[in-house]
Formats: sequence, C-alpha cells, structure tokens
Amino acid sequence: MADTFRPSDIPTLHLVDHPLIQHKLTIMRRRETGTKEFRELLSEIAMLMAYEITRDFPLRDVEIETPVAHCHAKMLAGKKLGIVPILRAGLGMLDGILNLIPAARVGHIGLYRDPETLAPVEYYAKLPRGIEDRTLIVPDPMLATGGSASAALTMLKDKGARSIILMCLVSAPEGIRRVAADHPDVPIYVAAVDDCLNEHGYIVPGLGDAGDRIFGTL
Ligand code: PRP
Ligand code: URA
Repeated sequence: MADTFRPSDIPTLHLVDHPLIQHKLTIMRRRETGTKEFRELLSEIAMLMAYEITRDFPLRDVEIETPVAHCHAKMLAGKKLGIVPILRAGLGMLDGILNLIPAARVGHIGLYRDPETLAPVEYYAKLPRGIEDRTLIVPDPMLATGGSASAALTMLKDKGARSIILMCLVSAPEGIRRVAADHPDVPIYVAAVDDCLNEHGYIVPGLGDAGDRIFGTL
C-alpha cells in the first residue's frame, strides 16, 4: 500500500521537481530506454540538480572593469567543495555535477546492498584531502531503504566531514525518513519521491536497478 508521506514533514528534504527534470526522469523510468540515453539523461539531471543545490553558495564582492564602466560585481566566495559519489550508480551523476563545478575534488565510496539482507556492504573509500573543511556533495541516484546513504554519511562523518549534502534522483519515503532520522544535519535533495518499496527493496514505480541501467549489466 502506498505510504502517506508528506515531504513538508521532513525539514531537511528539498524536492527539485523542475519540469525539465520531471520530463527527463520520465524517459529514464521507461523500461525501453536504453543504456546510452539513460546515462545521458542522468548526467543532465545531475547538472540541473547541482544548479539548485548551489543556489545558496556564498558570494564575495569584486570590482571589475567592463568595456563600458567600472562596477561592483559578485563572484563565488571560493567555498571548498568535494563530490563523493556512492559506487557504482553515483558515478552516473558525477560528470553532470562537474560540468557546473569543474574545480571540485572527487572522492569515492564503494557500497553495495546485500541482496538478501539489504544491508550496505562497504568495499572502497578514497577521499580528497581536508574533507573537514569542504562541503561534500554525495550523489546516488536511488534512495530506497536509506541504508547505503546513511552508512556513507556516517563513514564520511567518522573521517571528519562536517558539511554534507545528499543528492538523489528517485527516493522512497522509507529512505528519506531513515536518512533524516540518522542525519538530521544533512540536507537531502531528491528529484522524486515515489510510492513505496517492494518486497525486494526496489523503489515502486522507480526505474529498476540504476547501476545496471547505467552500466548495461542487466
Ligand atoms: C543501489 C543504489 C544505492 C542503493 C540504494 O546501489 O545506487 O546505493 O542501491 O538502496 P538502499 O537505499 O536500500 O541502500 P546497489 O547496492 O544496487 O549497488 P550498485 O550501485 O553497485 O549497483
Ligand atoms: N537500488 C536501485 O538501483 N534501485 C532501486 O529501486 C532500489 C535500490
């Protein structure tokens, strides 16, 4: 049965449902959409979401000369950033974010969901230096039970991270509630909140297995 979930009940949740994102996501969801198109659309949506996530980034005043006059203008204040995709599927969002924030450092966290228990299993971690001084964007297309995302955020905090943003494409109420409860300090950006999880822990209606669709391993 569908969950009576209200996004407004979760203070850390940001629903990025721009019409362009919804349109592209609908094409991704379709069973017949192939790997190439799926991957391209995910990258495009990641870029659009990164635009929204960076909306409140601090600016500094600068003085410049235009061809016409001297003026006061704004530039980014040079916030230190890191992007830490959760392997594998999070990799599909990396290039889209880097298109907007090309100077960001990139780390990787390897986690997979045990198919029986659905518990996250860690197999890799490589992070940029100085994560305690960076804002880390953690992309992963799917937020299902929330186990993987919550474990990744815990791992990053254990290694010193103090400012983290979780960025997912499709989410289930269960996963949002789990991450919000475990990490009330972490903003969660999602493009869609779906109905529920099925008995295998897949998001319904979802889009299937994101990693398999990105990498063609179905
Ligand atoms: C998927 C997805 C998330 C996780 C979500 O990864 O990319 O990391 O499942 O499920 P959860 O919220 O219930 O933890 P998966 O374990 O399939 O690994 P993959 O990215 O290597 O395919
Ligand atoms: N992981 C996926 O790739 N898809 C889901 O629906 C749930 C977890």
